[in-house]
Amino acid sequence: MIKKSVYELLKSDGLLPQEVQVKGWVRTFRSNRFIALNDGSTIHNIQCVIDFESTTEETLKRINTGAAIAIKGNLTESQGKGQTVEIQVSEIEILGDSNPDAYPIQPKKHSLEFLRENAHLRVRTNTFSAIMRVRSKLSFAVHQYFQENGFNYVHTPIITGTDAEGAGEMFRVTNFKDNEAPVNEEGEIDFTKDFFGKETNLTVSGQLEAETFAMALGKAYTFGPTFRAENSNTTRHLAEFWMIEPEVAFMDLEGNMDLAEDFIKCVLKSILKSCKDDLAFLDQRLTQEEKSKPQAERSDMSLIEKLRFVADNNFKRISYTEAIDILRNSKPNKKKKFQFPIHEWGADLQSEHERFLVEKHFKCPLILFDYPADIKAFYMRLNEDGKTVRAMDVLFPGIGEIVGGAQREERYDVLVEKMKKMNIDEKELWWYLDLRKFGTAVHSGFGLGFERLVQFTTGMNNIRDVIPFPRTPQNADF
Ligand code: 4AD
Ligand code: MG
Repeated sequence: MIKKSVYELLKSDGLLPQEVQVKGWVRTFRSNRFIALNDGSTIHNIQCVIDFESTTEETLKRINTGAAIAIKGNLTESQGKGQTVEIQVSEIEILGDSNPDAYPIQPKKHSLEFLRENAHLRVRTNTFSAIMRVRSKLSFAVHQYFQENGFNYVHTPIITGTDAEGAGEMFRVTNFKDNEAPVNEEGEIDFTKDFFGKETNLTVSGQLEAETFAMALGKAYTFGPTFRAENSNTTRHLAEFWMIEPEVAFMDLEGNMDLAEDFIKCVLKSILKSCKDDLAFLDQRLTQEEKSKPQAERSDMSLIEKLRFVADNNFKRISYTEAIDILRNSKPNKKKKFQFPIHEWGADLQSEHERFLVEKHFKCPLILFDYPADIKAFYMRLNEDGKTVRAMDVLFPGIGEIVGGAQREERYDVLVEKMKKMNIDEKELWWYLDLRKFGTAVHSGFGLGFERLVQFTTGMNNIRDVIPFPRTPQNADF
């Protein structure tokens, strides 16, 4: 008898009938005869048809939604509608009971909010199993892309002493016990007595360390967890998220934009191939959800059409200055519809502006480049104009910023000057400055928020629904 996953069973027409064995969880049980069994290997269930002679009354009572069971039987062509094959059960064993009155995941539609509160069980639903399978395949596609293009995977530290983004949104890592932190003569906490002998935090980005690898191995990338202690309760922010950060020596901003665009397109194409069934399900789900929106807010493309569109069309590229002109003269700006009206050059773009440009004006992914130096991080290369930097953001429909990157400042003096101006401690970043002293060269890279990519790929509106156990302000359950 062959042990198979549901995925394998559903693909095995042609070799029937066949004695098989399968284990999984009961999704539904109807008419005391038909079990829909799922083992997580596919979005689809296998129908198991019970033969009364081999089943006791006692067993029948225990076939409840959520129960873990083992089935032995004959895989045959299905007589009924809706499936090609089914199992004629000869033996059934209850491996783990599930009390139908207490099990939260009932065979009916649950709200996403309710499922978030039951995140330990939500992956047993169609929606979340599909999302998490796509997430898994996406992370594989990310590695595949970089590995096939000569990049080296670098594990940058989670605990650091630096604030790569200079935004001060860090979680402190300390070994001081409650109220026992020693203080120095100035009355400040004396971190020299802490575990690492200095103040440390969870990383907000692996970029600075990845740069050291790019300047030795040529092409490097990180893909790991990053942490931001910003109090953002939005559908696009997490306190713990995964970021992909490639960094390449001898590559300028042009090359960086090309890399980001090619990378995203390749990964999406890979998912369109490897996740057909899950995407078909998520496509349907989104179409249903869209129906509850007013006509004007509905997307004119289905999920799969959107993915194809992005994979097959060039991203639009414009400078920050051009974007400001468009925004300044836009209808919502003139009619005072923006919460943050655009008056002059230099304004930081808010998500409402980014979404206007992408969703209303250009109607395609957009790369904005050459931002004002004042609104961007210290490490970005200063342009000849002395006021803009070689920064780029990739903006996506429904998401806003999905990628942030830059050509890095490779000139020692310019970088030091910039750090002084922005109050960044040169002593702390001595090693980063060393890269500019020894064999410095043009180099660039970017960071892509993995969850935002999963959001786009699965069509999920809330970032909390694309990571197994979201960490957000006031929430670190599970
Ligand atoms: O734009 P950010 O802050 O850039 C950096 O951290 C650079 N060091 C990257 C680099 O050049 N190597 O973040 C990069 C991306 C954003 O575009 C966004 O997709 C994602 O990370 N991101 C978040 N995703 C979820 N929750 C948050 N709180 C995020 N903050 C940034
Ligand atoms: Mg950014």
